[in-house]
Amino acid sequence: MGVRFKGWGIGLPDRIVTNDELSLTLDTSDEWITERTGIRERRVGGTAMSLGVIAGQRAIEDANMTLADIDFLILATTTPDRLCPATAPMIASAMGLTCPAMDVNAACSGFMYAVRTAYGLLETGNKRILVIGSEHLSRWVDWSDRNMAVLLGDGAGAAVLEYDPDGSDLISFSLGADGSAADLLTCEHGGFFEMNGKEVFRRAVRVVVDSAEQALASAGITADDLSLMIPHQANIRIIQAAAQRLGIDMDRAVITLDRYGNTSSSSIPLAFYDARENGRIKAGEYALMTGFGAGMTWASAIVRWS
Ligand code: UT7
Repeated sequence: MGVRFKGWGIGLPDRIVTNDELSLTLDTSDEWITERTGIRERRVGGTAMSLGVIAGQRAIEDANMTLADIDFLILATTTPDRLCPATAPMIASAMGLTCPAMDVNAACSGFMYAVRTAYGLLETGNKRILVIGSEHLSRWVDWSDRNMAVLLGDGAGAAVLEYDPDGSDLISFSLGADGSAADLLTCEHGGFFEMNGKEVFRRAVRVVVDSAEQALASAGITADDLSLMIPHQANIRIIQAAAQRLGIDMDRAVITLDRYGNTSSSSIPLAFYDARENGRIKAGEYALMTGFGAGMTWASAIVRWS
């Protein structure tokens, strides 16, 4: 069996917050943030629901489908609008969908976890699934904490996945989780995001490299066969370190963190969309999608666009 990516959409708040603007209220600077992270600005605003609705509607239009075509909605989010109910049913309702709808929380690996879940559902009877990554991270940021405030941004990205008995865009997966590292990146009830940045950095490079190598091996290809790396966008230095260890030159890596910061579950679909807008997605070519995040969780997939 196979699964095809049929359409993509994104939703971004209009409000741009630059590093210089953050430097007005925080003991930080554009120079520090750019040098240490690669981030220049981020978007702030909306909600997980409102941004997710925009991305989801656009993905369905992009797939040349109607609401009636969609038979499941999976929302990857770390920042649901409420603890209960899940945000996915509210997105579905706002869009006019009446299919099953649920949230998946695997932090920054969330979109890839949702894609993996969709793959399993398509394997067992569903026909077309809307997968959305949507985050309202700014709501859970202490804007007086320079450690986190400079990193995160809001946004959403979505894709429609369709069952295809004759071939697949998704070739292989490698997912994992290690809850013994849970305390490295947390947001307690009623609190804000807190992180041991150095340790997350160290582990992130390792799990991206390991899971990417496993996904490459099970696809039966090597890093040389990849035309694109579409990584989670946390820090340019993490992407550089992982790419270097994998033998992927940075020309092949898609970078959006300079404009959007770290948007957790939304970063991989936002990066895919950016690559497509820039003519970098080409039929028959292989790409690596790879994410890691709080949990810790990680997820890599090899795709080959049809
Ligand atoms: O989405 C998945 C989760 N997130 C991540 O993957 C993030 C992983 N971690 C990172 O990206 C990096 O560790 C950070 C960007 C968070 C921090 O970079 P770093 O190179 O590890 O810096 P550091 O924490 O070692 O801090 C270096 C210095 C410190 O000052 P001293 O002790 O050398 O005097 C910090 O206090 O930079 C200081 N610092 C800042 N200075 C200006 C920390 N944050 C800032 C800031 N502006 N925003």
